[in-house]
Formats: sequence, C-alpha cells, structure tokens
Amino acid sequence: MAILDKHAVLEKNVTLLAIFAFLAVTVGGLVQIVPLFYLDNTIEDVEGMRPYTPLELAGRDIYIREGCYVCHSQMIRPMRDEVERYGHYSLAAESQYDHPFQWGSKRTGPDLARVGGRYSDDWHVDHLRDPQSVVPESVMPKYGFLEAKLIDGKYIGDLMATHALVGVPYSDEMVEAGQADFAAQADPDADTDGLFERYGENVNVRNFDSQPGVSELDALVAYLQMLGTLVDFSTFTPDASR
Ligand code: HEC
Repeated sequence: MAILDKHAVLEKNVTLLAIFAFLAVTVGGLVQIVPLFYLDNTIEDVEGMRPYTPLELAGRDIYIREGCYVCHSQMIRPMRDEVERYGHYSLAAESQYDHPFQWGSKRTGPDLARVGGRYSDDWHVDHLRDPQSVVPESVMPKYGFLEAKLIDGKYIGDLMATHALVGVPYSDEMVEAGQADFAAQADPDADTDGLFERYGENVNVRNFDSQPGVSELDALVAYLQMLGTLVDFSTFTPDASR
C-alpha cells in the first residue's frame, strides 16, 4: 500500500506531478535521441548506390524546376498493392544523395521511383512532348520545349561542388571532369572510359533524344532512365540486424 500512498501524493500535488512528468519526458527523450549523435550514418549502405552522373544531376534539376514532383512521388511504400504495381519498396539509401529528396506527397500521376528502364527513350521523348499522344486520357502537361533548349553543362561542376558540401561523395576529380562527363553521357561516340571509371558500369550512355547536341530533354530522360535501377534487387537482402 505504501507505494500507492506515495503515488496519491504525487497525483494530488500539481507542482510535483509537473516535475516528475518533465523528468520522465526528458529522460525518455534523451534515451531516444542521444544514440543518434553517436552514429555516423543512420542509412544502411546498399551496394550499387552511387552519386548521380553530371547529366542525371542536370536532369534532376530540370525535374525539380518543372515541378514534376507536384504530380509524381518517388517513394514506393512497403504495401502489397504498391509493391505489385511499382516494384521493390524504396530504400532509404536510394535517396541518400537527393538534396532535396523527391519523395513527394501527391500522386496525380504514377510513382516514378522505379520508372528507369521501364520504357524506351523514344517512349519518354514522345510522352514528354505530348503525353496525350501516348496515353490519351493523360492530364500531364506537354514538355516539348525542353528539346529546343541546348545546355552545355558549364555550371555542372559548381552544382556538384555544392552537393559535395552537403555530403554527396563527389571527389575533386569528379567535379573537374563534370562538364566532360556531362557531354560524354549523351554522345555514344565520345570517350566514356573516365565516366565509367568514376560512376561505375551502371551508366546509360546514349543520345537520349536522338537529336544533335545535349538538350534539357536529354538530361531529363537520362535522369528518368536511371531512377530505381541502381540497386540490384535480385541480390539485395535487407540487413535485419540494424
Ligand atoms: C499535372 C500533373 C503532372 C505533372 C506536372 C507531370 N506529370 Fe507525369 N504523369 C501525370 C499523369 C496523370 C500520368 C499518367 C498518364 C500518362 O502516362 O501520361 C503521368 C505519367 C508520367 C510518366 C509515365 C509513368 C509510368 O509509369 O507510366 C512519366 C515518366 C512522367 N509522367 C514523367 C513526368 C515528368 C518528367 C514530369 C515533369 C517534367 C511530369 N511527369 C509532370 C501527371 C503529371
């Protein structure tokens, strides 16, 4: 009974109750938060993830500029209907180089987290020029103007250096070679040894829009075709120990 008596004292004294409630919340909060300060990284490393190539990074910027995220999410939730429709649920590691991340909060169109490789480049070009020509009931706007805008990637080194500042592992060498790698990825005749050396074999090198020069459309399609293709899910097993 003694403990109940003591508890009654606590319940009847507002000041005492407030002090103990404060202590309980403080200790509970610290127990949850403090360990995070001692972890280098809360994201499980996953094989295959690499920073975006300069051309993909430029495409990602166009994706953000054009507000594609307003209608498209990039986050497959671990629920059966989503996994059956879009593929393996998204891993934290898959957006670890995204600043800002593109998870999105609205799906007027489908999730794009794994759209890479699902359609041909020509399909994407036709679809971006005129979505209704491919999917008649589509409400997606036309983005044909992107193919008329040629870009030279002059700014890409600076953009990569900025991403490096916030933790993306772009080396000085990658930043220096940024503009050359940018052009090489959209040119099947270019010398791409350096590009593959820096970003691995899993880089699509093509003239994405089949027209001379690197256009904003090239960059956007290069970005879309990479989405969700970096991690090999036939060999991936989640690390249950974390
Ligand atoms: C107003 C909303 C809206 C905006 C903005 C929008 N889309 Fe879409 N998108 C849709 C809808 C709806 C669909 C489904 C019909 C279709 O395929 O056109 C779609 C489909 C797609 C698909 C095919 C996905 C699949 O799995 O079939 C891709 C790729 C795509 N959009 C890319 C983009 C890109 C890139 C942008 C920005 C340049 C963009 N969308 C902007 C609404 C939008």
